[in-house]
Amino acid sequence: MGAERLRGVVALDGPSGTGKSTVARGLAARLGARYLDTGAMYRAATLAVLRAGEDPAAPSAIPVAVAAVVEVGSDPDVPTVRLDGEDVADEIRGEAVTSAVSAVSAHPTVRVRLVDQQRRTIADALAAGLGIVVEGRDIGTVVAPDAPLKVYLTASDEVRASRRDSEDRRAGRTGDLASTLVAVRRRDSLDSGRAASPLRPADDAVTLDTSELDVDGVLSALLELVAERGLVSGGTAR
Ligand code: DC
Repeated sequence: MGAERLRGVVALDGPSGTGKSTVARGLAARLGARYLDTGAMYRAATLAVLRAGEDPAAPSAIPVAVAAVVEVGSDPDVPTVRLDGEDVADEIRGEAVTSAVSAVSAHPTVRVRLVDQQRRTIADALAAGLGIVVEGRDIGTVVAPDAPLKVYLTASDEVRASRRDSEDRRAGRTGDLASTLVAVRRRDSLDSGRAASPLRPADDAVTLDTSELDVDGVLSALLELVAERGLVSGGTAR
């Protein structure tokens, strides 16, 4: 057990299927840091909208999403997602939420509310003397523009769809690769094309193509980057 600890904020952005969640959690666990999955927050708010029977793209979705009490745990070993006190970790990964989340997350008012909560989680970690790995779409550009390390993960559409497909199968969700590819491309285009905080790399982000890397390969690359930036204290870099 090394005593290496992350200092400060690591912002991890990129489209779905780049392995963001897995490596963000792994990096945080490895470096005694907290971890924040901001996509889970947008997903939980979306579930609230769907449960209320509102159209995710309509203005009437906004007050429902804003009023939702969303709690996302920041311990990388115990990821939890609650909506109004109920554990919704599995439900938010289902097809209904996945296809509606881009519409809900495109509402600027919803983003303001959740970005505020994300910044509080980051501030709490830093105040406790801990580092935090934050993953999403706009972390380096909007949520934590001063983060000392920003990484933008990419991978080819085909690789990302295939990862999503395997993930779905492991979780017992049915689907086929061709429709997953269509869904991945659709979500990318909605997330990159929206007016409010579109998905894009920050100007000072390091881009890491994960198409040819496995989880350990991405983790090693990230560990190298945090060490290079002097963001690891205690022990040796690896
Ligand atoms: O990372 P994910 O697939 O769980 O994210 C779900 C959706 O939430 C994604 O399609 C866009 C949105 N999102 C966002 O708009 N901003 C973030 N910081 C994180 C996610």
